[in-house]
Amino acid sequence: MAIRPPSGADALRLDGLVVQLGYPSRPGEIEARLARLLADPAQLVRVAAAEGAVVAWVHAAEQELFESGRRCEILGLVVDRTRRRGGVGRALVAEVERWAAARGLPEVSVRSNVVREESHPFYERLGYACAKTQHVYRKALPPGARSAGTVS
Ligand SMILES: CC(C)(COP(=O)(O)OP(=O)(O)OC[C@H]1O[C@@H](n2cnc3c(N)ncnc32)[C@H](O)[C@@H]1OP(=O)(O)O)[C@@H](O)C(=O)NCCC(=O)NCCS
Repeated sequence: MAIRPPSGADALRLDGLVVQLGYPSRPGEIEARLARLLADPAQLVRVAAAEGAVVAWVHAAEQELFESGRRCEILGLVVDRTRRRGGVGRALVAEVERWAAARGLPEVSVRSNVVREESHPFYERLGYACAKTQHVYRKALPPGARSAGTVS
C-alpha cells in the first residue's frame, strides 16, 4: 500500500469515498476543493492506494485557536468499506502524526460523530483519549448575504 498526495486523476474515486462518509457532492466540487486544499501548506490531504487503486483518504490541517494555540486536527478520514480492518486507517493517521510533528505541533485532535461507532474504538486503539463531547450548531447564511469570494 502506498500513501501519497492525491492527483486530479483521483477526483472521481475520492468522490465515491466522500459519499461513503455521507457527503454527496455536485460534479466538479471535489476536484475544485482538492485543488484549493493542495495549494495550502497548512492542509494535508493524503490517499492510500493498493494495486494502483485509491482505497482511503485523510484530510488534516494545522489550526491556531485563540484560546489554546496551535494543533493539528483530523478533519476527515474514510477507508473503503471493503478495505476496513486491514491497517489502512492506522497508516493514514500515522502519516498525519508525522506531518504534525514535522510542523512542530504539540497535539493531534479529531472530532468524531457519535454515530460513527467504528471510529471510537479505532481512535482509542491508536492512543487517542476522548476529551469531551459537544453539540454542533449550524446556521445557513442566505445566498444574497454571501460574497462570491473570500473576504478577510
Ligand atoms: C474508522 C476507520 C477509518 C478505521 O479504518 P481501518 O482501516 O478499518 O482501521 P485499521 O484497520 O487501521 O485499525 C486500526 C486499529 O483500530 C482497530 N479498529 C478499527 N476499526 C475497529 C472497530 N470497528 N472496532 C474495534 N476496533 C477497531 C483495529 O482492530 C486496529 O487495531 P490493531 O491494529 O491493534 O488490531 C474506518 O472504519 C472508516 O472509514 N469508517 C467510516 C468513516 C469514519 O468513521 N471515519 C472517521 C471519521 S473521524
